[in-house]
Amino acid sequence: MRQKIIAGNWKMNNTNFDSLLLIDELMNYSFPPDLRIVVSPPYTQLSLINEKLKNLKIEVSSQNMHYESNGAFTGEISALMLKSINVYLTILGHSERRTYFNETDQILLKKIRKALEEDIEIIFCIGEELSDRKSRNHFNFIKNQLENTVFLQKYDSWKKIIIAYEPIWAIGTGETASPDQIQEMHSFIRGLISEKYDHSLANSVSIIYGGSVKPSNAENIFYQPDVDGGLIGGASLDSKDFASIVNAL
Ligand code: 13P
Repeated sequence: MRQKIIAGNWKMNNTNFDSLLLIDELMNYSFPPDLRIVVSPPYTQLSLINEKLKNLKIEVSSQNMHYESNGAFTGEISALMLKSINVYLTILGHSERRTYFNETDQILLKKIRKALEEDIEIIFCIGEELSDRKSRNHFNFIKNQLENTVFLQKYDSWKKIIIAYEPIWAIGTGETASPDQIQEMHSFIRGLISEKYDHSLANSVSIIYGGSVKPSNAENIFYQPDVDGGLIGGASLDSKDFASIVNAL
C-alpha cells in the first residue's frame, strides 16, 4: 500500500515564536493515524521543531541540503548536519531552488546521491512552467526531469524517494491545476516508473501534489487515484487550514 503524505513547506516564513505557536495550535487537532504528516521549517528551526514534536506523529524535514559532507561552502547545510539533529527527510529540487538559486538537474543529481548515501529520505519536486503546458511539452519536460535525476537511481533507492508534482504555474498563484490535470500527470509519472523499473515499484511510490492546495480544493485533488497526498505551501502556515487539508486526505 502506498503511503499517504501531507507535507507543509513553510519556505522562508515564521520566526521561532510563530512556528512554536503554529505547532501548539496543530496539537489541538486530531489526525488520522495512518497518514504521514510532515512539516518543513527553515534550517534555524529544525532542532527546535523536532524537539517540540518529539512525542507527536508529525515528522520534520529540511527544505534543502548540500551535496558535499563538509567544506568551504559558506551558507550551506550538509546531510551529516541534518542527521546530527535527527532530521532524516529533505525536500530537494523545489522549483524555487531551481529558479532563484540555479539548481540544475546535474546539481540535484549530486544532492539525491548524497541524501541516499546518507540514508536521508527525499521529497523530490518536479514540475513544468505554464509555457511548457501551453506548448504541450509538459509530459516531455517531466520525463526529462525524472530521467536526469531519480531515474538514474537503483531500484532499492526508491524506498527513500517520494515524488512531488508541483506545476510551477500553480505555486503561490492561487491557480490550482484541475483534479483531471493532476491525475493525468500523476498517472503518467507512475507509468514512467513502471516502464523504467516495474509495476510493483510504481505502485509503491508515493506521488504527492503541490500548488495552491487549500481546504476548499484539497478533497477533490486527493480523491484522484494516483494522488497520494500533498506538498502544501501557503496554507501550511495556518493551523486551521493545514489541519483541514490533512483531514481531507
Ligand atoms: P503553495 O501551496 O503556496 O502554492 O506552495 C506550494 C509549494 O511550493 C509547496 O512546496
